[in-house]
Amino acid sequence: MREELFEKFEEVFGDSRDAALYFSPGRVNLIGEHTDYNGGHVFPCALNIGTYAVARKNSQNKMNLYSMNFASMGVVSVSASEFVYKKEDDWCNYPKGVMWAFQQEGYPIASGLDILYFGNIPNGSGLSSSASLEVLTGVILKDCFGHDVDMVKISLLAQKAENQFNGVNCGIMDQFAVAMGKKDHAIFLDTADLSYTYAPIRLDHAKIVIASSNKKRGLADSKYNERRSQCETALAQIQKVKPVKNLGELTEKEFEEVKDAISDPVNIRRARHAVYENQRTIRAVQALQQGDIALFGKLMNESHVSLRDDYEVTGVELDTLVEAAWEQEGVIGSRMTGAGFGGCTVSIVEDDAIDSFIEQVGKKYQERIGYKADFYVVEIGDGARKLDTCEGGN
Ligand code: GLA
Repeated sequence: MREELFEKFEEVFGDSRDAALYFSPGRVNLIGEHTDYNGGHVFPCALNIGTYAVARKNSQNKMNLYSMNFASMGVVSVSASEFVYKKEDDWCNYPKGVMWAFQQEGYPIASGLDILYFGNIPNGSGLSSSASLEVLTGVILKDCFGHDVDMVKISLLAQKAENQFNGVNCGIMDQFAVAMGKKDHAIFLDTADLSYTYAPIRLDHAKIVIASSNKKRGLADSKYNERRSQCETALAQIQKVKPVKNLGELTEKEFEEVKDAISDPVNIRRARHAVYENQRTIRAVQALQQGDIALFGKLMNESHVSLRDDYEVTGVELDTLVEAAWEQEGVIGSRMTGAGFGGCTVSIVEDDAIDSFIEQVGKKYQERIGYKADFYVVEIGDGARKLDTCEGGN
């Protein structure tokens, strides 16, 4: 992989003098969905697949960006002093957004850069390819320009880029997971104050299996923003009867006591999901710590039901994958993961059931939906980092 990336860099940019290699993972969330913009808890982990980059400074005051995944676009060159969103720049708006966010917050972009990217996260799969690309760019900027930013700050700058430059009002989960991931651990993050702990994921005789629905997400982003504003409306109405900062502060019982303050029945369901999912996440992490993986799995299943019925972000593709998974022997838990409306499911499956799981769930999906799902047995990896430098590169 390393050699191939440097070779390609040389082909595109002439030589690879002073270039270095960087990596940033994708992420999967085990439980705690649509809680991160409600001040709740999430429990994601970084994957061993992600985005690579080879990068170096240039003396042109230009950002020359090239992606092996979008080779037909060639090198996209943009000014290194002013970063403007342009639809036609497509994927480049993610790295540009991070450069913009650094500049905005007083971390100067001192020169241009030549950057080659390559990602092996399945396209549009909901495993955070955009957060991976953003955080990776943040790591490159820190390294090349010597900025004093830690990984949490990089994740916040990447989120700002996604929110304000690319117009998706996402929470902090994806960028945080990608930046702060730790091998064989999930991150129990309280999004109300960004406090977090690492929980070891010791799955004796079982693995994490991701199933990609291969459904293009289309309108996902506008629906995502709609869900977020429904939660905000519900919170504002609750605040008239109870002083809370966010939905994540409420227990189930407290929510039931105040829910009538929410005027729209749809928004009651949206807020109920946010509150119950947060409590479920806290309980799931406790279960894991007590070695009760069966309870963890059960809570994953309940999470899916709530996302399907109350939050309405699943759709027939994800429901088919999850409901087929629930019918299989050796499945400890299964749910949609990420924003929803397409994307992936995450399941915990016993080792000796994995082959038949992939075969059976794949078959049911193909029969019902009419096209294939893809399956990945994944490992939990470390967060974004510099891998090495091309010594004596030519
Ligand atoms: C997307 C967003 C995250 C989070 C999830 C849903 O992945 O980027 O911030 O809200 O959806 O849990």
